[in-house]
Amino acid sequence: MFSYRHAFHAGNHADVLKHTVLIAVLEHLLHKDTPLTVVDTHAGAGLYRLDGDYAGTSGEAAEGVLRLLAGTPGPTPPPALARYLEVVRGFNPGGGSRVYPGSPFIVQRLLRPQDRLKLCELHPTDARTLAANVAQLEAGRQVAVLREDGFGAATKFLPPPSRRAMVLVDPSYEIKTDYGRTAAFVGEALKRFATGVYVVWHPIIPRPEAHDLPRRLRTLATRAGKPWLHATLTVKSSKVAATPDGQARRPGLPASGMFVLNPPYTLAEQLRPALAWLAPQLAQDRHAGFTLDGASA
Ligand SMILES: C[S@@+](CC[C@H](N)C(=O)[O-])C[C@H]1O[C@@H](n2cnc3c(N)ncnc32)[C@H](O)[C@@H]1O
Repeated sequence: MFSYRHAFHAGNHADVLKHTVLIAVLEHLLHKDTPLTVVDTHAGAGLYRLDGDYAGTSGEAAEGVLRLLAGTPGPTPPPALARYLEVVRGFNPGGGSRVYPGSPFIVQRLLRPQDRLKLCELHPTDARTLAANVAQLEAGRQVAVLREDGFGAATKFLPPPSRRAMVLVDPSYEIKTDYGRTAAFVGEALKRFATGVYVVWHPIIPRPEAHDLPRRLRTLATRAGKPWLHATLTVKSSKVAATPDGQARRPGLPASGMFVLNPPYTLAEQLRPALAWLAPQLAQDRHAGFTLDGASA
């Protein structure tokens, strides 16, 4: 446990999908004046260096956000993607792309004074880095950092006093029980607060638990009579390829999805053009593509 460090993956294709959807959902919720509580069950370190050792070693950002920031010639990005890129550029005011904001910093940047942000991070080093990064914001009581298990801690914030909340569930899935715990968490959260907006990131990899998770989330939504939207982005085949010297080469993460329970009614029409633009931009082979499915209540 705890070998996962998001710094290796910050700004990869999964973060591009996750943070584009996160911003689109959040900005819709911020149209209403009533205070919003955002809970990030698996917050990470908050800010990442794209010119540092971690990102350099993995090269994942180079095939994700950095491709988009480089602005390869082609059609201009649709509004949801343009907004995502604008938010990322906002963390690099001098130009360039040295800093990548994680979900806590993206959310905090968009929140209003009346809103609250609860961040759970269990990794001792990342929790310390997150707390130090958040302290620099001087955001006072607006942002709380908890070094606690996000699945256990997050439900205590539900429902919030204003009865408006968005919960991002973004585990690393490094242990396979994370799949079952994610589904159980959403089930419990729905029981406590059926009108919350639940946003779950999940990897699409060839293992049964990963395959089952979106199905289980759909079942939870349907049983509760709630609408849902599921966006996926594939950048390459999941097949294990052989290197020229005959070794098996693991493909890395080929695809991921965002499952949104109680999505804003405008989300599907925002995401469809965004995904259609993104898939060819981030394609690593001919298997790249996207899906967008949903159901109304
Ligand atoms: C995918 S990363 C989060 C990325 C972040 N949400 C973002 O978008 O920038 C998952 C994080 O969850 C942390 N983690 C793992 N198990 C946890 C748990 N039970 N509760 C809270 N955090 C956990 C890991 O240390 C890691 O930093």
